[in-house]
Amino acid sequence: MDYAELGRLAEDARKYSYCAYSGFSVGAALLTKDGRVYQGCNIENASYPAGICAERTAFVKALSEGERDFSAIAIAGGPEGGRPSDAWPCGICRQFMNEFVEGDSFDVVVIHEDLSFTVCKLGELLPHSFGPEHLN
Ligand code: THU
Repeated sequence: MDYAELGRLAEDARKYSYCAYSGFSVGAALLTKDGRVYQGCNIENASYPAGICAERTAFVKALSEGERDFSAIAIAGGPEGGRPSDAWPCGICRQFMNEFVEGDSFDVVVIHEDLSFTVCKLGELLPHSFGPEHLN
């Protein structure tokens, strides 16, 4: 699975977004180390903080089915019905993902308007992170 294909799956996942309040649809495609892909989208709520981002939807789907080894996540977000526009993961999602991956090896793939993408490590997006190792 190359990242261009993972990005297309993230873009595809936007179609089920429920973004009634922001009008900003986000899709994510989470790649496991053995090549499975879990898609997710943002699901908003009339009680705004109860909504969930696409990245966490994808992670929760995978984790709840027993997956624990992840290699990358692609994210495509933008105005509903429009092209993606560089949706970098929010702070809560960065922290959430940090719990389950190694920051120096897990790739975050952000999809641009023309479906090209930028890849960086989660550790670049969340340096000096606080994680489970601090509570041992
Ligand atoms: N959103 C995501 O799904 N992922 C992010 O990393 C950024 C923000 C969603 C949350 C909300 O439903 C909408 O985008 C606008 O913030």
